[in-house]
Amino acid sequence: MKTNIICFSQTGNTRKIAKAMAGVFTDAGHDTRTIGFTKIQPSDFTGADLIGAGAPCFESQAPSHVREYLRDLPDLTGKKAFVFSTSGGAPGNVLYDLAKPLMKKGADVIGGFLSRGTCFYPVPCLKGRFPERPDARDLEKAEEFAGAVLEHLSSGASGPMPESRPGALKHGAGFYNIVGAVMNDPLVRFLMPKPKVDVEKCTECRWCTAECPTGSIRLNPKPEIAKTCFRCYRCLTGCPEEALSVTWGISNFMVWTLYSQTFERWLGDIQKGERVY
Ligand SMILES: Cc1cc2nc3c(=O)[nH]c(=O)nc-3n(C[C@H](O)[C@H](O)[C@H](O)COP(=O)(O)O)c2cc1C
Repeated sequence: MKTNIICFSQTGNTRKIAKAMAGVFTDAGHDTRTIGFTKIQPSDFTGADLIGAGAPCFESQAPSHVREYLRDLPDLTGKKAFVFSTSGGAPGNVLYDLAKPLMKKGADVIGGFLSRGTCFYPVPCLKGRFPERPDARDLEKAEEFAGAVLEHLSSGASGPMPESRPGALKHGAGFYNIVGAVMNDPLVRFLMPKPKVDVEKCTECRWCTAECPTGSIRLNPKPEIAKTCFRCYRCLTGCPEEALSVTWGISNFMVWTLYSQTFERWLGDIQKGERVY
């Protein structure tokens, strides 16, 4: 079975899950590829028997550029698929956001897997929550899920697999599902500050232009940030010269509150006894 695991991963958490799953498919003798989001082609979807689509959770939903890409895919009738994600304590709609466009294109999406990932959002208010996640146990769970996908497919069972995360294949009605539905890119741009460039520090190394997931940074000759920036702050967290920064204002406090440990304990999916810091 040709299995393509396609994944957007900004800081590597979701990629770790993708790799753990790919190992299971490869060991079971399937022709398996893990493909990063910047390299994917529609043929990576149409040419596979089984598609795994993964992305981190951004603002309680799947990142908009991933959703848009999936929405524009060609027909996927006859393909089997599963989705996966990593998140902090407020995953909201992320799995359904990945599953829905695949289902709309005719793929039979059999399940969704969610893991925890170390979270630096909203930077720099919160730093390094859920340290070292996904950890060894998370990766084991990802492998178990991949094993369950194979069993489900070989059994010929129809419908979603029982091991799927509940609600992965339909829109939920929880607090963060609603937040995820409301937080669109224009609102995030309004609430969150735009990165600024310190031209003295910038060495024009192009790290930010290569890493920006929406291609919103170009050098002229120093980095310029376009309107399409959706405030993921990858440029801030990774610039080798620390040449990018933001000025936080009072409106950012709202986002900080929304994604605070307290709110996520009350309304998100932080488990009892789970280490946050
Ligand atoms: C811009 C941004 C927004 C985020 N929003 C959320 C969120 O709404 N809920 C949540 O649970 N985690 C959120 N996170 C945390 C990420 O989902 C988490 O760190 C994830 O593991 C990152 O995966 P990656 O390393 O594959 O990019 C956010 C992270 C970033 C960078």
